[in-house]
Amino acid sequence: MEFLAPLAETPLARALIASSTLYLLVNAVHILGIAMLFGAILALDLRLLGLAPTVPLAEVARFLSRLAGVGVALAILTGFCLFTVRPVEYAQNSAFLAKLGLIALALINVAVVHFGSGWRHVLAGGVPNPAIRMSAIVSIAIWIATVVAGRWIGFL
Ligand code: HEM
Repeated sequence: MEFLAPLAETPLARALIASSTLYLLVNAVHILGIAMLFGAILALDLRLLGLAPTVPLAEVARFLSRLAGVGVALAILTGFCLFTVRPVEYAQNSAFLAKLGLIALALINVAVVHFGSGWRHVLAGGVPNPAIRMSAIVSIAIWIATVVAGRWIGFL
């Protein structure tokens, strides 16, 4: 993984290494991105599974999935910044690698849902079909595992 070492010499990494205030702010935004993502995804997935049936699914589905999208983008952007500080070390950290794999799985699950007819049916006011409900369960499980893997990085 030595080919990643030059990342730690970039102006971005040097700024994060030089300023612990900047580092903690980026780390805080990483956690805010995760909170936005997980909060929106959990609310959406639980509604897709039938909880809070009086909440109009078609309206909240569009809003919550966009909110989760912003959260993912923030987490990935700030996560990459944090990564540049110790790239070779993180790339050899099994919790970090597991987290990247889980994020990829979660985003594939999102893509399969969003490009499928089941999601269009939900946005048109229809009832979630079994495949959509199954993907909601998979989504909750994967994002919980991602958060655990993320926290685990610092313990390895
Ligand atoms: C998009 C979903 C993501 C989630 C849910 C997530 C979750 C987490 C969590 C829970 C932590 C621990 C935060 C703390 O206690 O300070 C963390 C830390 C971290 N994450 Fe992420 N992360 C995500 C994306 C990324 C990405 C894409 C990268 C890199 C490319 C990344 C790199 C890091 C790094 C380097 C740390 C600091 C680890 C340490 O030294 O303790 N994260 N992440």
